[in-house]
Amino acid sequence: MPFVTVTRRLTFNAAHRVHNPELSDLENARLFGKCNNPNWHGHNYVLEVSVRGEVAPKTGYVVDLAALRDIVAREVIDQVDHRNLNLDVAFMRGVIPTTENLAVGIWRILEPAVAPAKLVLIRLWESENNRVEYAGE
Ligand code: NI
Repeated sequence: MPFVTVTRRLTFNAAHRVHNPELSDLENARLFGKCNNPNWHGHNYVLEVSVRGEVAPKTGYVVDLAALRDIVAREVIDQVDHRNLNLDVAFMRGVIPTTENLAVGIWRILEPAVAPAKLVLIRLWESENNRVEYAGE
């Protein structure tokens, strides 16, 4: 049977401050600009989760996308939506809450959670113009 990649899109919003506590305030401001604003700022994130597999003869599906949606909602969205990524989110503790690090954290949660489906790509949009992709490397 053919191998196909299927993608589920979910959205959430969250606050953060991009800040490295090991650097001075001046250096943080220089590196991160407005994203270093001490009193936080928010983003409307768009998360795209892609899994790949064979099309099952019985269903014509790779996976049931409603089931994939439920897993992502339960394992990720419920943890981050309307939260502060610096303060409220256990899997972001100790890392700078950039979109890069958020995508990696989401991968680590979802890779086992979507099994036996095979996670192949996390695409995370922080804004209309900026997105990151992580494929587990
Ligand atoms: Ni930001």
